[in-house]
Amino acid sequence: MKKYLITGCAGFIGSNFVYYMLNKYEDILLVNLDKLTYAGNLENLKDVEGDKRHVFVQGDICDRALVTGLFEKYDFDYVINFAAESHVDRSISNPEIFVETNVLGTVNLLQCAKNAWLADGKWAEGKKYLQVSTDEVYGSLGEDGYFMETTPLCPHSPYSSSKASADMFVMAFHDTYGMPVNITRCSNNYGPYQFPEKLIPLMINNVKHHKQLPVYGDGMNVRDWLYVEDHCKAIDMVANGGRDGEVYNVGGHNERPNIFIVKTIIAQLHERLQDDGIDEGLIKYVADRLGHDRRYGIDPTKIKNELGWYPETTFEVGIVKTIDWYLAHEEWMANVTSGNYQKYYEEMYKNRL
Ligand code: NAD
Ligand code: DAU
Repeated sequence: MKKYLITGCAGFIGSNFVYYMLNKYEDILLVNLDKLTYAGNLENLKDVEGDKRHVFVQGDICDRALVTGLFEKYDFDYVINFAAESHVDRSISNPEIFVETNVLGTVNLLQCAKNAWLADGKWAEGKKYLQVSTDEVYGSLGEDGYFMETTPLCPHSPYSSSKASADMFVMAFHDTYGMPVNITRCSNNYGPYQFPEKLIPLMINNVKHHKQLPVYGDGMNVRDWLYVEDHCKAIDMVANGGRDGEVYNVGGHNERPNIFIVKTIIAQLHERLQDDGIDEGLIKYVADRLGHDRRYGIDPTKIKNELGWYPETTFEVGIVKTIDWYLAHEEWMANVTSGNYQKYYEEMYKNRL
């Protein structure tokens, strides 16, 4: 049986990964270490309650004693590190926690894995550390070209700087100690369980409640959207087939300007809810994000050619599935947008709207 330490898997991508892996593998153990920050939510894992193949542990990836104890107890084959502070806007107002979790937390996991897996100068067989990274480490593209694995790192935001720094530590552990590692760098994900600070769920929630839709700048920044399950599939493939020490970019060539995404959500919800209060008049162009990257676009040739990965869900299908999920999970949305979310929204948008 393969044993995985997966971190941050009460969040958006991680909870989807838990479902993906438990659906795919009978004989598996997933130990899910998550601090349950504002972005982590046990409701996301409700459907695996009682499944013995999934063990949830509340805790911080920075906690050396806790992580060491987990290695001693479970003798992991894999570490897959999803845990992070993940929101660019929050990193602009509060960068320190991004350094703590994304950089120091990663280094702590690397140290614990090294302590457990390296003995007498030899790495134990069949082990791997996989860092879930982001295309944002490459910086911003102009109108042409794509991010390749060889594109130099050029992060702009405190978030992407912390992720790039973590990536460098992962490669340093590979180059210095010979640790078996991979890094995946994926483009923007969307799908179920995404916290409504991110563009798509925020817009779905606001449209539904006839609230203004804050579009940063001219709305023409471009993101390369991937349905979350396709990202989970890529992570599984890299964990189980990626060449040691390699980086794999993950993306499905689905670039869209932000305003296109917002208008698609308006049109979909207008039709679905038969609500005439939902129209493009809700759009409000607001002050731009500081240091806002203009365009992301992934070249996924390497993961396609080496591992046979391809995205299964087109944007047209994925966005409808996503909207359907949010409409069917009103209680989930109501719970995550109560309390602290209101304060966050007020703070983040008060000078914009
Ligand atoms: P998220 O914010 O939804 O979830 C992050 C999870 O990490 C939460 O459950 C949170 O409780 C947990 N966490 C935070 N700090 C922790 C700590 N110190 N110790 C343990 N757990 C902690 O994030 P997400 O969107 O699911 O992203 C997951 C990973 O994927 C991140 O590393 C992110 O950088 C990367 N990524 C995200 C995207 C995207 O579009 N969302 C794209 C590419 C890569
Ligand atoms: O590219 C991968 C990255 O994608 C991940 O590494 C990050 O964790 C994830 O948060 C995401 O970063 P972005 O900054 O691209 O995602 P966000 O949803 O915050 O914003 C998407 C675009 O929409 C971006 O150009 C900013 C814009 N935007 C966002 C919000 C929240 C708006 O115009 N208005 C908004 O209210």
